[in-house]
Amino acid sequence: MIKCEDLYKAFGSKVVLAGANLEIKEGESMTVIGGSGVGKSVLIKNIIGLLKPDKGKIWVENTLVNDLNESDLRKLRMKFGMLFQYAALFDSLSVGENVAFALNRHTKLSQKEIKDRVTDCLNMVGLFGVEHLFPAELSGGMKKRVGLARAIAMRPKILLYDEPTTGLDPIMADAINNLIIRLKEKLQVTSITITHDMVSAYKISDRIAMLYEGKIIEVGTPGEIKKSQNPYVKQFVTGSAEGPIKTVSLEGI
Ligand SMILES: Nc1ncnc2c1ncn2[C@@H]1O[C@H](COP(=O)(O)OP(=O)(O)O)[C@@H](O)[C@H]1O
Ligand SMILES: [Mg+2]
Repeated sequence: MIKCEDLYKAFGSKVVLAGANLEIKEGESMTVIGGSGVGKSVLIKNIIGLLKPDKGKIWVENTLVNDLNESDLRKLRMKFGMLFQYAALFDSLSVGENVAFALNRHTKLSQKEIKDRVTDCLNMVGLFGVEHLFPAELSGGMKKRVGLARAIAMRPKILLYDEPTTGLDPIMADAINNLIIRLKEKLQVTSITITHDMVSAYKISDRIAMLYEGKIIEVGTPGEIKKSQNPYVKQFVTGSAEGPIKTVSLEGI
């Protein structure tokens, strides 16, 4: 469904991706884990063509993304629904208008069809009768759910979740994890989730890939990742300051 082959991406002298390889099968829930600033968001921006790799190839359903012009990229992006980090709702639009945004812009559905689709999508994420509210009136968890409703509004084949549980309390985070699982079952989508929340990663993933120093250093099922003998993976998934991954130096304190 999606294949990244030998991706390189640098910003000035800062090398972010340095030979990253990743394959995602149709219907699979793939999670990319890795520390803050390691390049997880850069990786998915390359997949949807918001960033161009310096080197390497990206295929989405047998289309080579590298070669696409802006108008083809816009078409490609219609296959994706995206839940952005921080939900990224339009503050001046109501919940209903937020969810309807792409439907109004990119479809020929009637206003009645759009209204029904918006209600459907909101109900699917457990929200009822909130169309008239504004983002400022919502809690963090509700904002994420509205973001999710907006992500599925165009009935995408692929869902991208960037840090879906970051900043939420553990109970709300679990509710979002359950929603991600339910949407996968109901909509049969392929998904890529980016997170450093291992509770979430273990729960929602068919496979987990770890990004470190520009490369995917290991891919496996949650069970395999839990038991990984790779010292970098082991340190990350157990959340330990002790290990080969460099952390803040405490020298001199
Ligand atoms: N558009 C950009 N221009 C310059 N540097 C960027 C840009 N996007 C990301 N970076 C840098 O790339 C690195 C990885 O960023 P990112 O993918 O956002 O990390 P994360 O793994 O936390 O999602 C960071 O050091 C960031 O500063
Ligand atoms: Mg990020």
